[in-house]
Amino acid sequence: MDSDKQPLRIGLIGFGCVGQGFYDILQQQPGLGLAVTRIAVKNPDKPRTLPTERFSFHADELLADPELDLLIEVIDDPAEAFRLVAAALRQGRRVVTANKAMLARHLPELVALQQEFGGTLLYEAAVCGSIPVIRTLDGYFSHEPLRAVSGIFNGSSNYVLTRMSEEGSDYGPALAEAQARGFAETDPSLDMGAFDPRSKAVILAAHAYGVFLNPDDVLNLGIEGVSAADIAYAAAQNQKIKVVAGLYRLPDGRVTALVTPQFVGSDSPLYAVEHEFNGVVLEAEFAGTQFLRGRGAGGHPTGSAVLADVLALRRSFRYGYAKRAAAPATQLTAGLAATFYLRHPDETTLQTVLQLLEVPADALTTDAGGAHTTIPVPLEQLHRHRDALRTAGVFVAWLGEVRLAQPPPLAPAAARLVTT
Ligand code: HSE
Repeated sequence: MDSDKQPLRIGLIGFGCVGQGFYDILQQQPGLGLAVTRIAVKNPDKPRTLPTERFSFHADELLADPELDLLIEVIDDPAEAFRLVAAALRQGRRVVTANKAMLARHLPELVALQQEFGGTLLYEAAVCGSIPVIRTLDGYFSHEPLRAVSGIFNGSSNYVLTRMSEEGSDYGPALAEAQARGFAETDPSLDMGAFDPRSKAVILAAHAYGVFLNPDDVLNLGIEGVSAADIAYAAAQNQKIKVVAGLYRLPDGRVTALVTPQFVGSDSPLYAVEHEFNGVVLEAEFAGTQFLRGRGAGGHPTGSAVLADVLALRRSFRYGYAKRAAAPATQLTAGLAATFYLRHPDETTLQTVLQLLEVPADALTTDAGGAHTTIPVPLEQLHRHRDALRTAGVFVAWLGEVRLAQPPPLAPAAARLVTT
């Protein structure tokens, strides 16, 4: 067993942006009593900042090493990450991961493995980089009902939208910059298609409401089709386009989730969240509304969250999942509708898509940027046809409002969604 006098021996699996960020932070803080004794990477030929002899090329060697007190998994591949993390938990080990896609798919099994074998898994770095939102929800708000938890959970898409709206960049170069700065996923469609923030919303749902959502059931719409015309349309109304991931309590107590571009006004704290920064609005029943903002991507901010988890594990901290005991029912898309803005450069394509969605296709406005309309759409239709929307290059944004203040006796936040 480790003690505060003997360095905690860490096995680090993955040495990409996050792994190196964590390692670098430790080099700058040698007095923490932490030692990265082994590092595993996949590719022996890739140039690295440390000598080759520092690396193992088989992560399973770290799993088999009883001298390691704790494992950190920060690799890219969700399937391999699950295999490694599940195996470590079956050994009753303490594990830190930053793999949001893996967590969103496997959280119920990972929680069960901890209960069965006594290990512990922490993953603050998986959601909103440096913002301590999981611990805030799991601990501080463990017993307080929440009306909504919403925010900007993806740094790369926010970076692209900021560059497009503030500096007039085109989509392609702005995305290339986000990649060059180490914010984007290896497959950037996970960021731009809003799959990454959807994973993060699914993880937060377990702590905010005690529900395990299947990510495939959550509607996510991205910004691959966004154009300067959309940015200008929003700006003309003193608004910005932001990709907002939200969990909302419906008036009947059920919980819903939605991840879409959204028009955000200056009355929302999300309006001023720019570049790779993330922001989370917590609307709590008794505490009122709170707002957390911080760097959501990048090696050092995410490495900082990994470090916080390592130190928490040394103190035997574990998540409580207190709301699992009385988890509400969920209503993800069926029976819900909301008002959306839809645009495409070509009017006929937009009409075809509206017909597919089974909404009126006759009230279109045309301008230099193509055709657009604003119309209520059943969420189920958007969910069913989201791949077709993506393929057609239609940009879709929710007109839902994101408000800072939520004073009672106003209707709950989710009244923005209409139950059909
Ligand atoms: N690709 C992610 C983002 C990294 O842009 O937010 C942090 O999870």
